[in-house]
Amino acid sequence: MSDSTGDNVVYWPRVKEILDGIMERWKERWGREPLPGIHRYYWNTRQELVDSVLSGVRALEPGLPGRETQLVRSLAQSVLTFGRMPLRGPFLPREEIEEIIAWIDAGMPEGPTEGGTEKD
Ligand code: HEM
Repeated sequence: MSDSTGDNVVYWPRVKEILDGIMERWKERWGREPLPGIHRYYWNTRQELVDSVLSGVRALEPGLPGRETQLVRSLAQSVLTFGRMPLRGPFLPREEIEEIIAWIDAGMPEGPTEGGTEKD
C-alpha cells in the first residue's frame, strides 16, 4: 500500500538528504573533496537549488517536468557533453531519482506546512 509513490509526498528536506547523501558517498569513494570552481555541490535551501546554475546550465526551469530538468538528467544519464553526475559515481539509485522527480512535479514543496510552493 505504501510502496506506491502515489500519495508519498516528497519535501525539500528529503531532496537535500538524497543530494547530500550521494556527495557523501562520492567523497568516500574518491577520498577527497570535490574541486572548487566547477560548480556547487551542496544546496542548503530549496531556493538555492531552484536558482542553481551549474557550469552554466540551469538545474531547474519553472514549469518544466522533473524528468526533463537538467538536474534530473545529470543524475540519471548525462547532461550535454558532460558525464553523469556526480562525475564518475557512485550514482543515485533509480528510486531516489524518482523521488526528486516527484518533488519537482509536485511544485518543489518546502515542507508539509507550506502545502507546496508553486512559484520561485
Ligand atoms: C545541471 C547539472 C550539472 C551540470 C551541467 C554539471 C556539470 C559538471 C561539470 C562540467 C563538471 C566538470 C567535468 C570535468 O571536469 O570533466 C562536473 C563535475 C562534477 N559534478 Fe556536476 N554538473 C551538474 C550536476 C551535478 C550534481 C547535481 C552533482 C551532485 C549531486 C554534481 C556533482 C559533481 C561532482 C562530484 C563533480 C566532480 C568534481 C571533482 O572531480 O572534483 N554535478 N559537473
